[in-house]
Amino acid sequence: MPFTTPNLKVLTARRKQLLTWMHTLGGGVAIVPTAPERTRNRDNHHSYRHDSDFYYLTGFSEAHAWLILVAGDIDQSILLCEGKNPEVEIWNGVRWGPEAAAEHFGFDQAHDVKDLDTFIPKLLVGQRNLFSTLSHSTQPDLLKHLQGWLVAAQHSVRGTRALPQQWLDLSDPLAEMRLIKDASELATMRAAAAISAQGHVRAMQTARPGCHEYELEAELLYHFRKHGAQSVAYDSIVAAGANACVLHHRAGDAVMQAGDLVLIDAGCELDGYASDITRTFPANGKFSGPQRALYDIVLAAQQAAYEKTSPQHHFNAGHDAAVQVLTQGMLDEGLLQGTLAQAIETAAYRQFYMHRTGHWLGMDVHDVGSYRSPPASAEERPWRQLQAGMVLTIEPGLYVRPAPDVAKKFWGIGIRIEDDAVVTETGCELITRGVPVAPDEIEAIMRAR
Ligand code: GLY
Ligand code: MN
Ligand code: MN
Repeated sequence: MPFTTPNLKVLTARRKQLLTWMHTLGGGVAIVPTAPERTRNRDNHHSYRHDSDFYYLTGFSEAHAWLILVAGDIDQSILLCEGKNPEVEIWNGVRWGPEAAAEHFGFDQAHDVKDLDTFIPKLLVGQRNLFSTLSHSTQPDLLKHLQGWLVAAQHSVRGTRALPQQWLDLSDPLAEMRLIKDASELATMRAAAAISAQGHVRAMQTARPGCHEYELEAELLYHFRKHGAQSVAYDSIVAAGANACVLHHRAGDAVMQAGDLVLIDAGCELDGYASDITRTFPANGKFSGPQRALYDIVLAAQQAAYEKTSPQHHFNAGHDAAVQVLTQGMLDEGLLQGTLAQAIETAAYRQFYMHRTGHWLGMDVHDVGSYRSPPASAEERPWRQLQAGMVLTIEPGLYVRPAPDVAKKFWGIGIRIEDDAVVTETGCELITRGVPVAPDEIEAIMRAR
């Protein structure tokens, strides 16, 4: 079943845009699979998540489905999905079935997916190009399928008709489309951000010395599901004390001690869109002097990056600004020696700040889109200029692992502050500030527990 009523105008326009791009390369057939179901153990599956590109073009969230776009004399969009089957539906729930799906999701045709291996080879005959999501697909057997269909088509025509001579990747043009979010996507992302932000507030209100990391993970999950989010956007990071210095620490069974900071990096996925928030707060509700000193540096770094997140700046300007502030802070607190220029030039700051300041956010938590000017890839390409409608995170941090030349008072402190920013015409809007970042406000929430 779909998450929301599909906006047929939006979905049709996306497919049309892709078909237009396919025509510029001579037309042909595009094949976009959704993700397969994955076994967890024996006959038990992981909870199902569609392929993002597929969902972006179809709004269809059932497994075992393929989108076919034909850019020819007459453009067509075709869905292959599971047929109706009352017996199976007793166990697994109601399916759309091709007929209802075609109408509800606006396809020109829809067929039972059991006919895939006869349908596609026939469709390939006489086509110039074969397009697919070659580099991003969540269907690991995509190439095997494509090759099998070409071989079958070859056998059927035996050299009498042309077959596609080129395989072309749809991933980059789709990424370019997904990079700029439309109004309906932004509305969903705002809603996801608001749910996640309140989940973080709830976790702060629950935390206290003696609490396990997994208890806060449970609070987050409860809040996300209670407010309609289908799942987490990624496994929640809940890190007590020095665990915060492990960047991808999963919520485990560590117990929060008075005097620990707690770092939570968690966000829900709502109707296919991610949110991604990090907050760091004291388990006992009061920052210590050294914790507060480092927290203030990270917060200032985030503010500096925020000020560079606008269409007047390129993607990396925020990172550069954050690195400046973080590195100056490290020097001021005696974590590093020398000058700011040296510490940046030699990358000495990476001892305490080893990740980047942000990433695209959208259907995927690390969303698609080149960070360099298109077309993607080559390192020497300039950073991409930000544009209204892009969404990215701003997430500086400081992580102090014990080391002989580091003051002991800072050992084991790990801090990250992460918000989600929508680029606007004049700057950006932080959509995750339903949970505060100011230390006084965090302490006030925790005093009210
Ligand atoms: N939660 C993953 C990240 O912040 O990139
Ligand atoms: Mn992030
Ligand atoms: Mn995060």
